[in-house]
Amino acid sequence: MVELTRDDTIFKDQDVLRDSYQPTNIDEIIERDEEIEEYVSGFQPVIDGKQPYNIFVYGQTGVGKTLSTNLIIDYLNDRQQDYGDLEVLTPQISCKSLTSSYQVSIRLVNCFRDQEEELPTRGHDSGFIYEQLWAHLNDVEASHVIFVLDEIDSIGTDDDLLYQLPRCNDLGHVTETNVGVVGISNDFTFRDNLSAQVKDSLCDYEVHYPPYNAQELQNILQQRAEKAFYEGVLAEGVIPLASAFAGQDSGSARQALRILHKAGDLARREGRDQVTEQDVRDANTLIEKGRLLDELRRLPTQSRLTLQSVLLLADEGETPAKRSEVYATYESLVADVGSSKKSTRTIHNHLSQLSLKGFLTVEQKNKGSHGGSYFEYDVNQFETLEEALDDSDFV
Ligand SMILES: Nc1ncnc2c1ncn2[C@@H]1O[C@H](COP(=O)(O)OP(=O)(O)OP(=O)(O)O)[C@@H](O)[C@H]1O
Ligand SMILES: [Mg+2]
Repeated sequence: MVELTRDDTIFKDQDVLRDSYQPTNIDEIIERDEEIEEYVSGFQPVIDGKQPYNIFVYGQTGVGKTLSTNLIIDYLNDRQQDYGDLEVLTPQISCKSLTSSYQVSIRLVNCFRDQEEELPTRGHDSGFIYEQLWAHLNDVEASHVIFVLDEIDSIGTDDDLLYQLPRCNDLGHVTETNVGVVGISNDFTFRDNLSAQVKDSLCDYEVHYPPYNAQELQNILQQRAEKAFYEGVLAEGVIPLASAFAGQDSGSARQALRILHKAGDLARREGRDQVTEQDVRDANTLIEKGRLLDELRRLPTQSRLTLQSVLLLADEGETPAKRSEVYATYESLVADVGSSKKSTRTIHNHLSQLSLKGFLTVEQKNKGSHGGSYFEYDVNQFETLEEALDDSDFV
């Protein structure tokens, strides 16, 4: 049984390492001066009382897009108060669970309504929803409405709103209020795949957030660590190592913070008063394993069974294995677990998908003088996968 006593050796305040922690002052965002300058300048037309830009903010996960947006919007709200002719509203929504223009529009309409007047999430046609939205925007007591749409990529290809909303003034739907959109995305394919029309509307002004390098991550961690840990708790190499892991992998501050948090937690659990480099290595392995497990859980059943067949072969030293060998193992596995059996073609498809996702490696072999070729599959990161599977209830 673990002891449940108040921690007075490692963490002074571990909340500052959590994802939910929000720095409240724009100066607390470090290593982002250029991006913030660019981003803030995008709001110049608003302060001038003119038609706003539509701003598109993009960059990989964990690079400070949401954090800086929140603080820049606070700053805008603060600055507008100096000008009597400005009344800027900034409704902010996360589109994470909203997968169509229809769902996002309803959410936007409801930003202007009291709870008892809110539209239900289904049952209207989209023309009606747009009319409601334009009516609210014309009626609202504001000089500007800037919609901040975070994780906008989840809207997918059903992106009519992303044409309509940024252009609602130009198209004459809204004449009484200046409307602008800030769209935020970490999905590069989303931006590249936008139709020319939508791209023109949504991306008047672009701000790119590149991944952090290891040195930048060190500075970010250093600042948080001072608040999070008691003095002298971190061994010298801890922050550089956590930053190096995250820097090599994703360049994400979120990942770096997670590694540091986990490392501190390992030391705390073992009742030690120092966090060591070994804790950082262990934390990194645990986090990677967790991520792998999450990905495994998201695989469709037949794909998991395919992966498991290759794992069984690897366990017996029979890999790299041809597709026919994988299929034979798959057939007996399916019989064992009582699942339905799919065709060879389906399993071949799963094999290619699993290699694309990095679970398997694939090599093309030539048959020799008779020509033709075949593929051989093996498990990538066999030990990590096996450990992840051992730790789980994965069938
Ligand atoms: N420059 C920075 N200074 C201090 N903390 C930062 C910085 N950049 C990111 N962080 C912290 O890293 C975490 C991730 O940042 P944020 O949520 O802004 O990422 P994001 O770019 O919006 O990622 P996603 O695309 O996954 O939403 C947060 O906890 C944030 O406070
Ligand atoms: Mg974000």
